[in-house]
Amino acid sequence: MVTKAIIPAGGVGTRFLPTTKVLPKEMLPILEKPAIQYIVEEGLRAGLKNYIVVTSKHKTCLEDHFDINQELVSFLEEKGKHSLIDGIEKIVQLANFVYVRQREPRGLGHAIWTARNVIGKEYVAIFLPDDIIVHSTPAIGQLMQVAQQEKCSVIAVQEVPMNTVSNYGVIGVRKQFSPNLFQVKELVEKPTISQAPSNLAIIGRYVLSPSIFGALDELKIGVNGEVQLTDAIQSLLLSGEKVFAYKVQGVRHDVGNPMGLLKANIDLALRNPKYSDILLDYLSELDREFVVMQGKANLLNKNAGSKPILPL
Ligand code: G1P
Repeated sequence: MVTKAIIPAGGVGTRFLPTTKVLPKEMLPILEKPAIQYIVEEGLRAGLKNYIVVTSKHKTCLEDHFDINQELVSFLEEKGKHSLIDGIEKIVQLANFVYVRQREPRGLGHAIWTARNVIGKEYVAIFLPDDIIVHSTPAIGQLMQVAQQEKCSVIAVQEVPMNTVSNYGVIGVRKQFSPNLFQVKELVEKPTISQAPSNLAIIGRYVLSPSIFGALDELKIGVNGEVQLTDAIQSLLLSGEKVFAYKVQGVRHDVGNPMGLLKANIDLALRNPKYSDILLDYLSELDREFVVMQGKANLLNKNAGSKPILPL
């Protein structure tokens, strides 16, 4: 039922400046791969082959990443590094990419709307590339299964602490069908604690009905002066469409900020036999070497000098 996925990758990535002055945040590495590659690999594991990437100015290296680099392939062939060739070529052969450009940063809803002409009257998967979800069953596949069963839009949710709800879109529940499956009554983007209908926050995976583009067509500007996807899904509800939410299984990392990216790196390194022992050794070494000076914020490594390393 779902064959295409949209990846909105037009964001500026202010939380990673100055790195993101020239490098798109989607290209920041988690171990040896850029974050966006984990998204495409999650989709491929769920059987999705077609990706519409919404880009913006200064993001052309995303296109280069998912293209053949014959010069590099020849170089690696000469050096006999065939396993590395496999690592860069495989994804290019398995997935198809279309790029559309978001000309102005008008929000997530606007980014999705930008891809409207590439999607027909069909359900579409959406991946927010800031959210990396680690699980043996791909998160988007978990949603696709529910969408297939229930014949309606499905969004991914996870429980978050109540004092963080204002960072998310949050759902209100009409009916709970199983520990993980809910019919949605309402959605609120970036609510205050008192406005939040629950602590079930939307995380970056959606399978949406084709009516989402009509809803986006008519949408007014929402919170933060942006066109919000959450508001468009709320319009689907108001027009009588059913929307389900599924508490996806998996560990979610918000790689849209430096600490989240670091945690994702640590988590994935610990799960990878190539890195796990080395990392564990390093962490226990740090445990021995660090001294606590005036509390947690002033942890200093004895061998790196007695002062914190401050910015210029
Ligand atoms: C976006 C969505 C929000 C969702 C969040 C998940 O917000 O608008 O509904 O909860 O992603 O990461 P953003 O993080 O882009 O502000």
